[in-house]
Amino acid sequence: MKGYIFDLDGVIVDTAKFHFLAWKKTARYFGFDLTEALNEKLKGVSRVDSLKKILDWAGTTISEDEFEKLATEKNEDYLQYVNKMTSKDVLPGVYEFIEKLKKEGCPVALGSASKNAPKILKKTGLYDMFDAIVDGNSVTKAKPDPEVFLIAARKIGVKPEHCIVFEDSEAGIEAANVAGMTSIGIGDKRVLIDADQVFSNFIEIKEKFINQLH
Ligand code: BG6
Ligand code: MG
Repeated sequence: MKGYIFDLDGVIVDTAKFHFLAWKKTARYFGFDLTEALNEKLKGVSRVDSLKKILDWAGTTISEDEFEKLATEKNEDYLQYVNKMTSKDVLPGVYEFIEKLKKEGCPVALGSASKNAPKILKKTGLYDMFDAIVDGNSVTKAKPDPEVFLIAARKIGVKPEHCIVFEDSEAGIEAANVAGMTSIGIGDKRVLIDADQVFSNFIEIKEKFINQLH
């Protein structure tokens, strides 16, 4: 039996755009514009590592206290968007896709870098669909380290080589590949070049393809 591991932001829900808006504000504070191309490097990356990258791009350093303050402010901005979320914010085809896997008895896990994952899953009504939830609260190493996916695989009792990961970020695809799992990119083929296969969304994934994976 194959195991299915889903990233959260940008795969299950469109929160990637909320992270982008909140980090754009942080970048503005340091006097530069966070472009979409630069933002690709933040996708899948933990809150702390994202802020470190922004400081690097700004060519500056700050005290630990200010670092803490900026990370907290970014999260507060981000949560203002998240707090308005409902089940309508689940990306097209995702609910049906996971439901089908569950009906077939396939183990399903979440593998996300976000500390806000439980809150988002509860707000969108998806929390109970997962057999295991591994998120930013339970990992020590951020993607592209494979830790999050390896823990998820262990929790659902499936060998890494039998796991299929759905990811929208370069860091996440790398993490899945390093873990020895099948990596399915959700997004742009030109960006997710290392993924085993890329689809623009879950509606595009046909039953035939899933049956081949099983
Ligand atoms: C990832 C997002 O899923 O979670 C990143 O792609 C984000 O953009 C990271 O920085 C951490 O999220 P949070 O919610 O803990 O700040
Ligand atoms: Mg993501």
